Amino acid sequence: MSNSGDSITIERKHSHVEICLHGDVAFSGKTTGLEQFEFEHNALPEVSFSDIDLSTTFLGKNIGAPLMISSMTGGYSEAAMLNQHLAETAEHFNIPLGVGSMRQTLENSSHRESFAVTRKCAPTIQIFANIGAPEVAQGLSESDIRMMLDLLEADGLIVHLNAAQELFQPEGNTDFRRVLDQLAKLTNTITMPIIIKEVGCGISATVARQLLEAGVSVIDVAGAGGISWQKVEEIRYTRQFGTENRFSPQALDTLLNWGIPTAQCLLDIKQLKDEHPEFRDAEIISSGGIQSGIDIAVSLALGAQLAASARSMLKALHEGTLEHTITTWLNDLKAVMFLCGATTIEELRNKRLLLKH
Ligand SMILES: Cc1cc2nc3c(=O)[nH]c(=O)nc-3n(C[C@H](O)[C@H](O)[C@H](O)COP(=O)(O)O)c2cc1C
Repeated sequence: MSNSGDSITIERKHSHVEICLHGDVAFSGKTTGLEQFEFEHNALPEVSFSDIDLSTTFLGKNIGAPLMISSMTGGYSEAAMLNQHLAETAEHFNIPLGVGSMRQTLENSSHRESFAVTRKCAPTIQIFANIGAPEVAQGLSESDIRMMLDLLEADGLIVHLNAAQELFQPEGNTDFRRVLDQLAKLTNTITMPIIIKEVGCGISATVARQLLEAGVSVIDVAGAGGISWQKVEEIRYTRQFGTENRFSPQALDTLLNWGIPTAQCLLDIKQLKDEHPEFRDAEIISSGGIQSGIDIAVSLALGAQLAASARSMLKALHEGTLEHTITTWLNDLKAVMFLCGATTIEELRNKRLLLKH
């Protein structure tokens, strides 16, 4: 691909971080829905707080807590520093890490180190490569896939579905034909797990079923209620082309806040799994607007194997409080477990959730 294509990719990744840190990109009038639930209090927990154990498993491997740092960045020089810090922190807590889209590494080899640094800083955790649905739809060669996986000594590949983001992106690729077919081929090509995620609009039970039937191992719902990628791209569009609307003012608000709330995705996919034993082993990640250990706990009781976070992690990293933020989230989680009478994460998964009135 041309150098100008490469510079657009680099500009895009750079401005995404800047806009996510400083822009007004939260959903308006829509929340994750996780806040609607609370655990039934256990007045007789029969648990010692000091015995509470946050470890669990993900894709058959033990991890320190049911939390993952979601895919964010890579592919330009400053990204190496961000990825280094994210990887060191993930290693410290023994939690999985996704890197940002590796599209740039397919265009040329100039910034591959910004991805490879993660494995150097985090030799033992699960690290996942990342690529977008449009690239998958165009058909990735086996050597492309091998290059991305080898660069990270990856534990699997994440593919992100981001139709709404591409729709708003000034240079977006809106040809989403053949994604499912190509995904099914991909699951036959690589023996490693494939994780499919959205980026903030959520995955419905219908789509989850199509993905699981295509051989996908893990679904990360990345639902609505956190960051709106339509808003991120609308800011980039306005910077380039001014404020002339592409959509009618009446429709714009609906489109900018489009998506299925995170809790709704979890509820619907849980029902799908309950009704279809063939999908029982599929692991679900709760993400999209995770803000605390309480959100993590509710996610687990709604059927998620773990929760994942991007923007809150980026903001904490920027403020120099990443380790502290994760520590407080894990303390929140322990507090909930204590008050429900759960010593292990597996016990917490079965605790009763109530709908708040
Ligand atoms: C700065 C930034 C860059 C991101 N880049 C990617 C990416 O390259 N690939 C991807 O799959 N998701 C990407 N995401 C989306 C996140 O992985 C996540 O799905 C989404 O932001 C919702 O989670 P959150 O509400 O915790 O931020 C990015 C998120 C942020 C904040």
